[in-house]
Amino acid sequence: MAEFRLPANSRIRKGYTYRAPDAEKSENIRRIRVYRYDPEGGATPRMDTYEIDADSAGPMVLDALIKIKDEVDPTLTFRRSCREGICGSCAMNIDGTNTLACTKGMDEIKGDVKVYPLPHMDVVKDLVPDMNHFYAQYASLEPWIKTETPTPPDKERLQSKEEREALDGLYECILCACCSTSCPSYWWNGDRYLGPAALLQAYRWIADSRDEATGKRLDELDDSFKLYRCHTIMNCTATCPKGLNPGKAIGAIKRLIAERET
Ligand code: SF4
Ligand code: SF4
Ligand code: FES
Repeated sequence: MAEFRLPANSRIRKGYTYRAPDAEKSENIRRIRVYRYDPEGGATPRMDTYEIDADSAGPMVLDALIKIKDEVDPTLTFRRSCREGICGSCAMNIDGTNTLACTKGMDEIKGDVKVYPLPHMDVVKDLVPDMNHFYAQYASLEPWIKTETPTPPDKERLQSKEEREALDGLYECILCACCSTSCPSYWWNGDRYLGPAALLQAYRWIADSRDEATGKRLDELDDSFKLYRCHTIMNCTATCPKGLNPGKAIGAIKRLIAERET
């Protein structure tokens, strides 16, 4: 997986150090360093350090965060739901890489475990980024099957095995935003560039044999900012915790647009 570091931010100050009660007698202490920020409080962001007994925590970074919240500091704020890499809500920057806290093993990380929110997003609190713009971009794709022909009266709109397989590597996207927030083009132009997550989702509907709005979808995407800010840097593909390839999907959209222009 490609690693990238958040830009050094001198405004993040050293925070507090806490020790979990069961860490006092622990022979396996792990230090978890966590970005803390409450915009409503107006204080400068800080990095707090939590020392926990790794043997009594679960194996994943999310388990460590839940242990900290339950046993040390209930004010620590983060999103999570499924705990098995399905909902996408626990996406954060761990050890320098955007990933899912619930599938990132503590034993994959050497030394202190450093946890930040997804980069280049506004922070609602601590590890919770503001996803409103990201979701609005997704909604702008009109992510549902559009048809003009009448629905068959007696059966579903069927696909062949091959048509269904064309969606593999696309439908699995959980919209965690790890890819978009690792993309330099999205960092600088995220107001107008759709970013790799939304573009992979756009291709998911273009590639669906049942959809009858391909031309209009390509018309919408054929825009110097929405699509063509992608410069094939491929951070997106390197960081996707589901092993998907948004860079390839973006290339496929560009190719379809180029083919219809020749
Ligand atoms: S392509 Fe991967 S990294 Fe991007 S939103 Fe989907 S699951 Fe997350
Ligand atoms: S390939 Fe495109 S979308 Fe992916 S990181 Fe690079 S510029 Fe961003
Ligand atoms: S909690 Fe659902 S993906 Fe991590």
